[in-house]
Amino acid sequence: MVTPSVGTRVGNRSNPYRLIPGLVSLVLLPTLLVAGIFSASELDAHRKWMDDAQEHKDDIREAIEAKDLAKLRTAAQSIAALTAKEQAFWARTALKQAQEIAIKNRAEARDLVRAAQASKLGDAQAAFASLERTCSSCHDLHFEKHPSIAPAAKP
Ligand code: HEC
Repeated sequence: MVTPSVGTRVGNRSNPYRLIPGLVSLVLLPTLLVAGIFSASELDAHRKWMDDAQEHKDDIREAIEAKDLAKLRTAAQSIAALTAKEQAFWARTALKQAQEIAIKNRAEARDLVRAAQASKLGDAQAAFASLERTCSSCHDLHFEKHPSIAPAAKP
């Protein structure tokens, strides 16, 4: 039998290289399925706005203690804006529980804004206490350990 030249083997079923794309996909597929949907910089941005939320939370506590309505309104609006970002962040994942907590947290921030606008310090205090519990309830679930918020695999 005549051995075909290298040229004629390209694209031939006996060409061992034809298996490479299939093998690469086999290796990459599970990585793509479990790896996160967020880039490393999106995850950095998330941590950054969480830190900002913490600062606004401290300002809100101080404002309530000092009965400083102007400061309370500003900080409440800032935290409400961040809870909207948080809600959008989790909406991109398949984590139902995190999505629900984020929605609840946003509603509490809006209650806080409403109470601050209406100069109702008692209502503001109640909304704030509820908001704080919700921030903690999410952290207690440690979603940062979930694969969907692992940095996405580099292409
Ligand atoms: C739906 C879930 C969820 C809610 C609600 C939430 N967080 Fe977080 N938070 C996280 C996760 C997850 C991390 C860890 C992120 C990471 O390590 O990448 C985090 C991290 C943080 C951090 C540390 C950031 C850093 O630099 O590592 C702070 C501070 C924080 N959150 C504050 C808050 C405050 C304040 C609220 C409420 C207004 C809040 N969080 C609400 C999920 C949540």
